[in-house]
Amino acid sequence: MLEKFQPVPPDPILGLGQLFAADTRDGKIDLGVGVFKDAAGNTPIMSAVKRAELVLHNSQTTKTYKGLAGDEAFRDSMRALVLGDAVPANRVATIQTPGGTGAIRQLYEAVKKINDEATLWLSDPTWPSHIGIARHMGLKMRGYSYFDGTASTVDFGAMMDDLAAVRPQDVVMLHGCCHNPTGANLSISPIRGLATVLMPTLPGCGRWRHGCPKC
Ligand SMILES: Cc1ncc(COP(=O)(O)O)c(C=O)c1O
Repeated sequence: MLEKFQPVPPDPILGLGQLFAADTRDGKIDLGVGVFKDAAGNTPIMSAVKRAELVLHNSQTTKTYKGLAGDEAFRDSMRALVLGDAVPANRVATIQTPGGTGAIRQLYEAVKKINDEATLWLSDPTWPSHIGIARHMGLKMRGYSYFDGTASTVDFGAMMDDLAAVRPQDVVMLHGCCHNPTGANLSISPIRGLATVLMPTLPGCGRWRHGCPKC
């Protein structure tokens, strides 16, 4: 049975880390993984994280099961942090996942369950696992233009042109912040423009504000 597992090609980012470690030149900089490093090349733990861990350690009273959707207080706090009062709380569903990769897998599972004919629109470029997981799950994918390498900014015009082909019930993946790997983010006004293009594709709805009686 196990012979069905084929060796996978080495991870390019981890491979870069090994090349970096083997490089003996002075002044080398590891740009492979986007984590903060100090002058000595260590990845220190932020003091705020250390303090939070201590608070948790001292105040936690149980390690019993949290329920399948995760810690409710955490999910409520994340909703409030990310969305504030922009959307009524009863219009938002949250779920706690093990990291970003787990979140993407959960999202794709939901998409597949709701409509496995949906096309998943991914920025070009995007974080490679967004593509790898979708391919593994057999989801339909299309890329949309995102980055203008010459100007080092988002090519919003090209992005809008490509996204004009989005059909009802397709899913457009946007990086909420820190677009990986380009670091180029959409500011609020293009996001509003994008919403006006995408939201009318919701079935039965030509409006996109949450005040819409149909939404
Ligand atoms: C855009 C994007 N998606 C997914 C991931 C994977 O997240 P995690 O390491 O929390 O699984 C990363 C990690 O850097 C990322 O930048």
